[in-house]
This record gives sequence, structure tokens and C-alpha cells, in this order.
Amino acid sequence: MYTTEFLDLPPLLGISGAVRLPGSKSISNRVLLLSGLSEGTTVVHDLLASDDTRVMLDALRVLGCDVEQSGDTVRITGVAGRLPVLNADLFMGNAGTAIRPLTAVLALLSASHGGIYTLSGVPRMHERPIGDLVNALRPLGCQIECLGQEGYPPLRVAGGRLNLGQAIRVRGDVSSQFLTALLLALPLVSQQQALTVEVEGELISKPYIEITLNLLARFGIQIQRQGWERFTIPQGSRYQSPGEIHVEADASSASYFIAAGALAAIEEPLRIDGVGADSIQGDIRFVEAAQAMGAQITSGPNWLEVSRGAWPLKAIDLDCNHIPDAAMTLAVMALYAHGTTRLRNIASWRVKETDRIAAMATELRKLGATVVEGEDFIEVTPPAIWQHASIHTYDDHRMAMCFSLAALNPLAPTATPGRPIAVRIEDPRCVGKTFPDYFETLFQVADTHPALIPVITVDGPSASGKGTLASNLATRLGYQFLDSGSLYRITGLVVVEKGIDPDDHEAVTKIARQIGTHLPLHFEEHQVWLNGKEVSEDLRQEAAGQMASRISAIPGVRQALVDLQLSFRGLPGLVADGRDMGTVIFPDAALKVFLTASVKERAERRYNQLISKGFSANLDEICADLEARDLRDRTRAVSPLVPAPDARKLDNSTLTSDQSAETVLKWWVDGWPHVKANVVNDVKPI
Ligand code: DC
Repeated sequence: MYTTEFLDLPPLLGISGAVRLPGSKSISNRVLLLSGLSEGTTVVHDLLASDDTRVMLDALRVLGCDVEQSGDTVRITGVAGRLPVLNADLFMGNAGTAIRPLTAVLALLSASHGGIYTLSGVPRMHERPIGDLVNALRPLGCQIECLGQEGYPPLRVAGGRLNLGQAIRVRGDVSSQFLTALLLALPLVSQQQALTVEVEGELISKPYIEITLNLLARFGIQIQRQGWERFTIPQGSRYQSPGEIHVEADASSASYFIAAGALAAIEEPLRIDGVGADSIQGDIRFVEAAQAMGAQITSGPNWLEVSRGAWPLKAIDLDCNHIPDAAMTLAVMALYAHGTTRLRNIASWRVKETDRIAAMATELRKLGATVVEGEDFIEVTPPAIWQHASIHTYDDHRMAMCFSLAALNPLAPTATPGRPIAVRIEDPRCVGKTFPDYFETLFQVADTHPALIPVITVDGPSASGKGTLASNLATRLGYQFLDSGSLYRITGLVVVEKGIDPDDHEAVTKIARQIGTHLPLHFEEHQVWLNGKEVSEDLRQEAAGQMASRISAIPGVRQALVDLQLSFRGLPGLVADGRDMGTVIFPDAALKVFLTASVKERAERRYNQLISKGFSANLDEICADLEARDLRDRTRAVSPLVPAPDARKLDNSTLTSDQSAETVLKWWVDGWPHVKANVVNDVKPI
């Protein structure tokens, strides 16, 4: 998961390959709650690991369920309809799918068996209405107090006296989650009589109610429904564990990849595994909406294949009540359509993680689109001229995922040829709510031209702190990292190991050519593996550095390592450190830093580094050695260590490593956007 402050998405040119998506949030949280209320143990497979499911799991643990987690499988031993814990404060984050059903469960159990519970969340959760659910539960004799504003969390439920004599009424026109909450919880108090829920107003998001009914049936509870107005829970309903249950992949999450395929799977379809035609999720009907815009889609029981069909996409005018979440994706697809797309009947967007109609309109306008918003609709006309945009995400996972599709802008029918635009996603970690690895998954199937992937180079002499600075920058930006010195060190190591004479240029060059090919190379966090063996410690030895300096002067060695270094230029960007990153390997880097520090300062750093690792060291020797190495690196015939003419110099003799990183990050932020015009001439609207 990207935990950076922002994520810069380079312009993307195509989509290909296959993705497997994480489990559905709606199914995961319903299954967790039902398992927790059941008698016996349920093994839940393919559970979504996300903020919202963590909230539910934590709540179930607090309430006395036995929960064992291993990877995406969870074993839950339920409480058989009675809570052993009678007092609890539950923190629900921003998880609507957790707070609503738990409020109903706790209110009913508190009224029937006692207990005092509070439910609270993040500030946004306290702005999301829950009054319709509270108003449905109070007439049943539940004592529910709104601790802040009436009709909103935080809530306290404390006792009461159940009175189930009359029909239970709930509004269905703001959120279907209130009805879901009642349907999931009411079987707890159905011992004496059948219970009937009547829906007031036109029920929205009906497909989510179908998921609820479907899953209740899997747990032994058959609810009878008359139209979408009356639901009856039979007398004596009891939650029975199905033993094992698989969570299908999230159909709403699939919408981003369906859209990506419709926009950019040009040669071959994009394959999506984990969800398909047999899905019980309403958002699978996003497939029809995408088809209406032009996507070509084939499907099997649990897979989809999507490719570009009509192009430009066709603008649509659609009632989106049946796909409220996935419809956001249509609003961004509209940027690639011919004409104006109108999405109607989406009032529920206003009470989601953020006011999604307002948020969507604001951010689409940043890209240059013309947007008209109303109480319950949005109209999007593609930009005449696309603009670089830093997208605010409002702590809303769907805003972040939707707007990643704007990175495909070079393909847009209204794009200016040779002028791709930069898309920055602010606070990318918000995707953790439902799809923590969303961006990694996108990058797996996204294609672009290497010239469009930004590079930051950090060159400088030995022990100047390049490695620390570069890896720090890579972490802060979520970029790939290349420690090019390690490639020369590895070559040197193999040369020594094989007893090759370092002056035999041909033999050493042959070894360099094998690095990363015959001798597979693998970097993992702070470890380096060569040919299946961990060599990290060996590489850090002074002797390895000296041998590297010596063999790196051989022209054949430098040439042999070029392609390997270029291959590190991957999405979403690269920070590369070495001696010739800015001059030879990545001359088109967006930012070049030349890092220096006095020899004395560098010698002291290296000395302290060695001592702290338990190696013996001598300061004078290190100083002399650094001077000799600097001289050799600076004066060698090929790729000498010199600053690139366009490099920014930074003397960090008196800076901490954090201060150096801050300085360079500021240069980077001030230089945004980093996409270069005209780097890719062959990208034209198709
Ligand atoms: O950065 P380092 O100390 O790990 O590098 C080891 C040696 O490799 C260094 O003395 C010079 C050489 N090198 C190089 O010539 N070009 C690079 N891009 C990186 C390192």
C-alpha cells in the first residue's frame, strides 16, 4: 500500500494482462457479523483485508467472539445470539458497513438482555446520518442516545424494553444500509414471533439488499419479501454457521479495471479474476453501463475480460440508483466520451465517505472538464484542453481509485498530442478502506513509455550520503529505487569469488553481462540476493567498494550494466543513485541532484558506519582511501564522476539526512508537474 503524502501518476498509454481483485467489502463485513452472531465456527476465505473489515473484526473481538486470522482466512467462533460482553466502547472508524448493523444488533440485545455500549468513529462518521435507523429501533423499545447531534453518531445504547407487537418501519430512500442493518439483526429477537419490516419511501440500492438476503440465507435465515416494501423474518430464526464460506471479489473494485480495459486494452482484453457473471453483488451491473459506453466485455462465472470497443466512448444518460458506488467510475469514464454524460438518481452520493457529487465535480473541473451538478445528478463534458491536476481525495477511497483513470489522458479523444498531463493523487492511502494494493495492482497492468516515467538521480562521491538520501526519497514518493553502486560491487564480488584477474577486462566484462541474467538478482527491502544467496553484508565491506571502483573503470563493464540499470525505470517513478545516473544512464531525468560533502565529513560518516556495524576501521586510512577513490572515479576515461550540467548541487556536510531529504523533496514539489511535453511523439488520439 502507498502510504506517501501523494502519488504522482505518470501518463499511461495502455492496459494489458490480468488482475485478481480483493474480496468484496459489503460481503466481507456482512459475513463477519453473521459469523460472529452464529453458533459454531465459521471459516471465512478470501476475506478483504482493509480498514473497514479490521474495524468489524476488532468490534467482534471486543464483543466476545473468538477470532483467529491467518492471511485472508479468518476463523470466527460466534456468540450464538447472546453477547458475553455487556459493556463496550466500540470505535468504528469510517466504516458505515460496520456501525449500522452493529448499532441494530447492540440496541436489540441491550433492550432484550441488558448491556451498555457506545459506538463512535472518525469525525466524518459523525457527519454521516444514522437517524433513520435510530428512528426505526426506538419504537421497538430500544434506548438509543445520540451523544453529539441528534440523528448522528456517536451513539450510546443502554437497555430498554422490547415491544415487537407492531410492524417495524424504516425509511429506505436515504441509505439501504439501515434496512440491511435491521434484517441482519432482527433474527436475534425473533424467538417469540415472526417480525415484519416495512420500508417507507422508494428503496434505493436494492442490489445491496439482495446481498443481505442472499447471505442471511447462507446462514440459515430465509427472509420472505413482498416487492421491496415488506420483509418478514420467520419466527424462531437462528443464525447457523455454514462452516466455510468464500468471499467473492469486490464488484465495485472491478469497476476501475473494467473502465481501464474499456479505455486502454486495445490489442488484447484485460482479464479480471474473482468476480463475474454469477456475482451476487449489485455493482456487477456496472458491466452493462460500461458496455453502453462502448466497452467490450465477455464473462464467465467468476471472471471478466474487457477490451476497448467503441472509441471515443459513447456519452450516456443513466439512472444509477442500482449501482451507486460504481457509478462514480462512469463519471471519470465520461472524460473519454463524445459529448455529455449525465448520471441521475445519485442523491446517496452526498452522504457517503464525503459529499461525492461535490467532490467529483470539483476534481473533474481541475482536469478541465465542464461539470454541472444538481441535488441528485451530475453531468460531465470532457475537457477541451486537459490540465495538470492534483486531485484531492477527501479520505474517500473511490475518489482516489476513480481519478487514477485520468492518468490514461494521452489516449483521450480531446488530448493535445504530445502534451500528456500529470495527475497527482493526494493521500493515496485512503484506498486502504477497500483495496489497499489498488495502485500496485494498477501498475501491474498499466503500460507506458519509459520516457514518461519520472526519474530523480542522485550522484556524488563515496560516502556522501547518496544511498540514504535516494532511498529516503524513494520511500517518501513511493518510487522504485536503484543503488547502481551495488551492481558494480556485485560484479566485483563475483570476480573475486571466481578468482578472475581484475585486469582481465574481457573476463570481468563477461561477468558483468551475467548479472541479472545468468546470475539472477533480487532486491528486497535492505537485502540483496544474487543467484539465490544473500550477499548484502559482503557488498558493504570496504574491499567490495574498492574492487567496484577498480572494475567500474572498465568501459565494457559499464556498457554491460546499462540495460540492467535502465530496467529499474518502472511505475510510478525511480530514484537512482550512483556516479553517472544523471550524466549517462538517465540523462532525461526530471531532477538531478549532485550531492557532496567534505572528505573529512564523509570519512567520519563511513568510519562511524563501519564501527556501528562491528567492523574495525581507521579514520586516516578511510580518508586516504576516499581521496584515492574520488580521484579514480573523477578521472577515469568513461563516465567520470562529474555533475551533469543541469544538476542541482547540494553540499550536505552540515545537514542531517532528514534535512537533505526535505531540501530535495521541496525541489521536487516545486518543480511539479514533471511530465515532459513531446517525449512521446507517437501517442495520438486514436
Ligand atoms: O556508491 P558505491 O560506493 O556503492 O559505489 C561503488 C563503486 O562503484 C564506486 O567507487 C564507483 C562505482 N560506481 C560507478 O562507477 N558508477 C555508478 N553509477 C555507481 C558506482
